[in-house]
Amino acid sequence: MKILAIDTSADETSVAITEGFRVLSSTIASQIKSHNVWGGIVPSIAKLAHVERIDGVVAETVRKAKKGRLLHASPSKQCFACDKPRRSSQSSAKNRLLEGVIKPQDACINAIAVTYGPGLSIALEVGINKAKELATAWKVPLIAVNHMEGHLYSPFVQNSKGNPHRELQYPFLSLLISGGHTQIVLAKENGKYEIIGETVDDAAGEALDKAAKMLGLGYPGGPILERLANDVENIDKYKFPRPMIGEKNCMMSFSGLKTHLYYYLKGEKGSTVDMQKDLKNIASAFQEAVFNSVIRKFERAVNQTGVKYWTVGGGVSINKRLRYLMRALAQKQGAEVIFPPYPYLCGDNAAMIGIAAYMQAQRKDFVIDIVALERIPRLKFASQ
Ligand code: KG4
Ligand code: ZN
Repeated sequence: MKILAIDTSADETSVAITEGFRVLSSTIASQIKSHNVWGGIVPSIAKLAHVERIDGVVAETVRKAKKGRLLHASPSKQCFACDKPRRSSQSSAKNRLLEGVIKPQDACINAIAVTYGPGLSIALEVGINKAKELATAWKVPLIAVNHMEGHLYSPFVQNSKGNPHRELQYPFLSLLISGGHTQIVLAKENGKYEIIGETVDDAAGEALDKAAKMLGLGYPGGPILERLANDVENIDKYKFPRPMIGEKNCMMSFSGLKTHLYYYLKGEKGSTVDMQKDLKNIASAFQEAVFNSVIRKFERAVNQTGVKYWTVGGGVSINKRLRYLMRALAQKQGAEVIFPPYPYLCGDNAAMIGIAAYMQAQRKDFVIDIVALERIPRLKFASQ
């Protein structure tokens, strides 16, 4: 089953074509440059950029898959989907389909998938509208995907040759750590997920972004802090607080940590910190406080659930220090931990949406009324 997947949940316009766990083609048009002057994502700018780029990104993704001869078993077969991916061509494609010249089963794309939440409302809308348009024109089913389910399955994504091959085993315990979310999720089986713990306020990535902004370092802050933190002698010079760490649950909090940094920098906590001189130490100590809180809560979740197969997903999962700490915990616990195998799979991407859609297709979870599909900006995992 070949799926064309779309994600426009935040600041990446992303389209992929997937088959099972394999990515046949993927395109990510990043908008970071348009947002970083503002120190964060500006929803109206994101929407405009998605509108401008979505057709081009769909066409480019289809073109790449076609070039790699990845779309058809028989290349000579006529296909309305890959020959005519653009809006201008859809009516004729539809007519040819209606005339019976092309049969739906001849199409190289068997389903369209789209993120319908969580994410920025007006950004989600662009992807959803395009997905509705393509599913209707190509007469294929539509699969509405929870963006976090994409991050959940991102460590299992394979390249077009099927590498790396990782056995999907349930249950697995997943740390989802991004700019919008920090969650510990127990995946019991396909479609059955339980949130074991999550942040009560800011996400871990958001905290890193806000700290970097406070330090005048730009956006997104996570990678900037990581670079600075690479170059320190004392990894945790300032020993910033670990909020909620004493509480006997798996909940996390990061907004107090950010406030602590704010007052620290203002010198209100008896600090005589020279920011420029000590920037690297501050970056490292802040990153350490965030990751240490996450790791300790994750360990609690492991002890609570007894699950020893772990995955990590989301933009922050690219961070080498976080990976080191998770691997060290896995060694201590006699567990196995896997991360998204390619860097582009850590941040937002449509490939993971295609793979999550494939899982959904296996449980026959398709959109019944395409016209009625709505974005759900605060979509959560259904508690099961
Ligand atoms: O998954 P993602 O691309 O978007 C959301 O769904 O939120 O995650 C973006 C987040 C940002 O907060 C960014 O600072 C963080 O991922 N991030 C990193 C690194 N690269 C991106 N955090 C720490 N270290 C990195 N190298
Ligand atoms: Zn994301």
